Amino acid sequence: MSILVTGGAGFIGSHTAIELLNAGKDIVIIDNFSNSKPDTLEATKKITGKDFKFYEINYLEKEKLEKVFEENNIEAVMNFAGFKAVGESVKKPLEYYTNNISGCLVLLETMKKYNVKKFVFSSSATVYGDPEKIPITEDCKTGGTTNPYGTTKLFIEQILKDLYTSDDSWDICILRYFNPVGAHESGLIGEEPKGIPNNLMPYVVRVASGELKELSIFGNDYDTPDGTGVRDYIHVVDLAKGHLAALNKLDKEGSGLYIYNLGTGTGYSVLDMVKAFEDITGNKVAYKIAPRRPGDIATCYSDPKKAKDELGWEAKKGIKEMCEDSWNFIQRKK
Ligand code: UFG
Repeated sequence: MSILVTGGAGFIGSHTAIELLNAGKDIVIIDNFSNSKPDTLEATKKITGKDFKFYEINYLEKEKLEKVFEENNIEAVMNFAGFKAVGESVKKPLEYYTNNISGCLVLLETMKKYNVKKFVFSSSATVYGDPEKIPITEDCKTGGTTNPYGTTKLFIEQILKDLYTSDDSWDICILRYFNPVGAHESGLIGEEPKGIPNNLMPYVVRVASGELKELSIFGNDYDTPDGTGVRDYIHVVDLAKGHLAALNKLDKEGSGLYIYNLGTGTGYSVLDMVKAFEDITGNKVAYKIAPRRPGDIATCYSDPKKAKDELGWEAKKGIKEMCEDSWNFIQRKK
């Protein structure tokens, strides 16, 4: 029996593949390298000392996807094959809706056809919009997403809820990620955004390494302790372990639909992150204060208690490992 990992060469997919392999699971990866590289698969094998089957396909290609289900004994699916850049989604909404929503629908239809009903979905804290309370619990209202990327996550959550209502033999876990950062401690895999990064941490490491001149801090007049935006940064290896915990829950409980926040429960401001990065790595990060970025909110951090109580999972790595591992990865790449 194998776990199908779509987008398994990507940032979160590859780290999760490693945790699955380390836990002794058999996996099959599909990826079309639209935002990843084949090297990552080699690194995954090197880190774990384990092999797995790989198909270079797009999950929208129904016949090819069906072939994967024909040729393997798939018992569960983890879906990481989504586009994830907020700014790009505003410019390319059709591409985002097609890839994220149509792709997920093809995947779910194929799962249904082959009677595979265990599904772990990568959602995002973005579904809470401007959150009704902080820290955010899973029962906070969702909606009010401010970009097509976020809306794809919201819509897919609804699709999964409707699917479960129609047939409660499905076994679905929705994981709402907060802000994934860091890299594998080996330095062999990490986040490699194409072009100029949108997210804070990849930008910070590129300023520190001299690839980019300075960081623009988007607003210092928010209602937060130092005026800059506060987020719940979570180490990608902790996040990956959360997927394993979710899978174990689905294995144990049988059918159900579960939703968990994956965050640390601690909020850091942009300035906190910059200072921590400087202190921990000994590198200067030049920055300037710039206008607010449209669509940003002041504060977003999780209440991670439900995941702890029900999955037995909690984030273990702190800001030190987040900064060190991000820096280590970019240094090794050079
Ligand atoms: N920021 C800067 N300068 C930059 C980049 C970011 O000041 O160059 C600030 C932002 O304004 C924000 C914080 O750093 O206050 C974090 O920004 P990111 O772009 O790293 O992350 P976001 O919180 O905007 O978004 C992330 C993911 C989304 C996800 C969301 C969930 O990128 O995919 O978290 O809350 F939907």
